[in-house]
Amino acid sequence: MQENHGHRWLRWPTDPTRARLGFGADYNPEQWPREVWDDDVRAMRAAGVNIVSLAIFSWARIQPRADAWDFAWLDEIMDLLHANGIAVDLATATASPPPWLTTAYPEILPVDREGRTLWPGGRQHWRPTSPIFREHALRLVRALAGRYGDHPALAAWHVNNELGCHNAYDYSDDAAAAFRRWLRARYGTVEALNTAWATTFWAQGYGDWAEILPPRLAASYPNPTQQLDFKRFSSDALKDHLRAERAVLRELTPDVPVTTNFMVMGETNGMHYADWAAEVDFVANDHYLVPGPQALDELSFSANLTGNIAGGRPWYLMEHSTSAVNWQPVNVPKVAGAMARDSLTHVAHGADAVCFFQWRQSAAGAEKYHSAMVPHAGTDSAVFRAVAELGARLRDLAEIAGTNRRPARAAIVFDWESWWVAEHDSHPTDRLRYRREALDWYTAFLNLGVRADVVPVTAELERYDLLVAPVLHVVPAALADRLRDYVTGGGHLVTTYFSGVVDEHDHVWLGGYPGALRDLLGIRIEEFGPLRDGQRVALDNGTTGTVWADRVDVVDPGVEVLARYTSGPPAGRVAVTRRATGRGSAAYVASRLGPTGLTAVLADLADRAGVSSELPAPLRGKVELAVRGPYRFLINRTGRTLDLAGVPGHRIDGTGTVLRPRAVAVLRDTETGPAGAPAGTTTDAPTNGYAGGPGDHREPDRLSRVSR
Ligand code: GAL
Repeated sequence: MQENHGHRWLRWPTDPTRARLGFGADYNPEQWPREVWDDDVRAMRAAGVNIVSLAIFSWARIQPRADAWDFAWLDEIMDLLHANGIAVDLATATASPPPWLTTAYPEILPVDREGRTLWPGGRQHWRPTSPIFREHALRLVRALAGRYGDHPALAAWHVNNELGCHNAYDYSDDAAAAFRRWLRARYGTVEALNTAWATTFWAQGYGDWAEILPPRLAASYPNPTQQLDFKRFSSDALKDHLRAERAVLRELTPDVPVTTNFMVMGETNGMHYADWAAEVDFVANDHYLVPGPQALDELSFSANLTGNIAGGRPWYLMEHSTSAVNWQPVNVPKVAGAMARDSLTHVAHGADAVCFFQWRQSAAGAEKYHSAMVPHAGTDSAVFRAVAELGARLRDLAEIAGTNRRPARAAIVFDWESWWVAEHDSHPTDRLRYRREALDWYTAFLNLGVRADVVPVTAELERYDLLVAPVLHVVPAALADRLRDYVTGGGHLVTTYFSGVVDEHDHVWLGGYPGALRDLLGIRIEEFGPLRDGQRVALDNGTTGTVWADRVDVVDPGVEVLARYTSGPPAGRVAVTRRATGRGSAAYVASRLGPTGLTAVLADLADRAGVSSELPAPLRGKVELAVRGPYRFLINRTGRTLDLAGVPGHRIDGTGTVLRPRAVAVLRDTETGPAGAPAGTTTDAPTNGYAGGPGDHREPDRLSRVSR
């Protein structure tokens, strides 16, 4: 786990020792006349808002010209918020450079892979590696830190905004120069780079660093290792910008925690957030629902992964939506109860602040049709009433603040590099979607009512009894060793098609697939089995495969065949295997079985691993269970009212023994009080609203399994 970040929580300006959950939004007062601000703070108080993110897109307002500064409006709103007991997560305002800057220095504008400049007029039109942008951004950060570092409203610094949301990949000359520096640091010599990039292929051998470029639009497929390194570099370049702003903030305001909002959601994958988490004092995330049948599972998956990237500690939900967004093809409002359910699902997975984009819905601009806490209709609206109800509910749940996630016995391993590489071009299929496969397994866990953590591959995997590593495509030798030790030590590993195939340079492990994991799994595959669109293969366990269907040869006598194909090209061949080794095991699923098929396969594999549901049988699959310290969250996954009679625990929100559609119940273990942990656990108790101590949130039985 990422244990080395500062894990300092918000510096609450008033009553700092009181446990509370944050509640608020991005606040853009510069879009409104001064008199609206008074209405704003009145309504914020009525809704229970206690924190807002300010000045995110205010650079042009704060610094209207290179040598002119206007802080008066920001002084006034900071004071007004403070006078009303509302804390501020103050942005460094560097997300959207002002026109005077891009006019004077057009060379800060990003360039896409086809060489097209991304012009101003939107936002985030800056190169992460531009020295000129960096200089001007840091000047602004210094000015803000100098002016507001001692302001009593200031609870945290918000670096930039969603770093990489629109400028993750820049192919400009600045990027080329920075990429070469990054490659030099990684490889030392051009010869080492040539070996890693396998440049004997297609006459790509480099003689000098100056010859190397980002993977710009090429006549055919760019070198795959160049593509992988460019992804690594691009994530690092944005991380470097985060560090540069943070260095100024730490120098001038060492007591103020620093964060930036991640985007652990959907297919956003340019930023390697597991690698970024150690850079911030607390992790913050933005999440918007991905429409579709697994929308809620995806929300839970993202919140779960965010919580584990944060090392199990509380994190900050910086943005989600009260209702519709404006950037999907069709933007449907949320139904009654959905906003609170979504918010509490994030809390269930460790969020100690629930915030929205944005406070007041814009009357103009590109986001005028995006929902907000105060909609166009005003405070006399269903949305605002639901917002105020949520504020009251979060106040009632204040005792949860500071409690850590309680680890599950099972986990899904999530690996950014496998995500990147498995979806590269010139592969057996372009239909494979890494995150979708991982999400399908998560849905299978939810369907069985078995709690599973979603953890980065760098996490302490040994603490889990059952590990599912879907499409673990990139397996360097050290990871293969870790997984072998895990299984030898009694762990149960499950992996899938296209796993173990390449090393950290995207070079194939030879001798048959799944390369690095072949011996552990006791199987061998000679050729990949991608399926055409619409092609399906039936398995004799009643499941159906799409996208991929490896033909597996069993090479180890200890391997048990759990399923075979009964139709399609691989009919009669082996599809699901499990090799038991002492107390552990390693299983392989050779096809994409989807959430329903995986539910059946996982039921058997979890059973064999001795991992079972913590829910009473009638609730399995119908509710999601998440646990923080002594608190259990039960989230209704169905459209029906469910009976909770007989579920142990004290219902801390006093809403009875049924769980209505879209409802979330919060139960405290009966053997503990609000400020204590259940007997026999080391779960942190809430102290000053954030348990920032040693933070070991493992249960004793988990601790003993570590040494197995
Ligand atoms: C986020 C962004 C916000 C707003 C929001 C709309 O990506 O940080 O500023 O644009 O999306 O959903």
